[in-house]
Amino acid sequence: MLVKNKLNSALLVFMHVLVFDSGVGGLSVVAELRALMPDIYMSYVADDAFRPYGNKTEAQLKGRLPGLLQTLVLAVKPDVVVIACNTASTTALSEIRGVVQIPVIGVVPAIKPAAQMSKSKTIAVLGTPGTVKRKYVDELISDFGNNCRVILHGSTGLVELAEQKLSGLDIDRYEVAAEISPMFEATDGNDIDVVVLACTHFPLLLHELKFAAPHSVNWVDSGSAIARRTQSVLEDLTLDAPPNHPQTALLIGGHNNIDRAKMFKGFGFVKTVALPAF
Ligand code: DGL
Repeated sequence: MLVKNKLNSALLVFMHVLVFDSGVGGLSVVAELRALMPDIYMSYVADDAFRPYGNKTEAQLKGRLPGLLQTLVLAVKPDVVVIACNTASTTALSEIRGVVQIPVIGVVPAIKPAAQMSKSKTIAVLGTPGTVKRKYVDELISDFGNNCRVILHGSTGLVELAEQKLSGLDIDRYEVAAEISPMFEATDGNDIDVVVLACTHFPLLLHELKFAAPHSVNWVDSGSAIARRTQSVLEDLTLDAPPNHPQTALLIGGHNNIDRAKMFKGFGFVKTVALPAF
């Protein structure tokens, strides 16, 4: 059955969103998508085989991501793809859009709202080492930094700590503290009052980050803005039929233990399937 014209929110249940990340970080975006559109049908892909993205070169990411996304879209047949990864979005979004025939929504670090919110005019951008050195982020700062001092800090350790946490392992809060302390010890670090979580893994550690910060700050991420953007893109689409199989998480390169499968189930992915690394 073909449903056409602008869809109202009830009809969003018929749409299929593919959420993509290097690992479990995209689940912070899935949580926002489900909060806004509780009945939405989603598939999830974690590129475990190539994680962490944050320490890969631009050339490596541009070499892998467009072809991978093109293959996934042909196989999974979503209506929309959400690249729920700041590193991938700030590096290869236009290359991915160049080869994928459906709307591709990327994640932009929330520098604009953070700069507007800051009273001390000092914000930090906490992302992966790759994200914080991308030209894209420099441009966001010069366009939307609102004359704030901006402290950039990259961490790969936090990505793996988030992976461990969501695999059901205990994580050491002091390791989290060690990952973020250079940000607060930098020049003007004492004045930071807003931290942009510019990696989708990091909202999954919010509790630990709050505990680890030497003073109280506001933590801002892009998850809810991405969910609103996805909803508005979906409302403008037409569609044929909803998928008729359980919502599935595909894990490229393994890491499909029982606790991880249980955790994906908690985010609405009834099935997890480990694919061979490629
Ligand atoms: N979750 C990702 C991001 O938002 C990538 C983390 C990584 O693989 O380094 O940047």
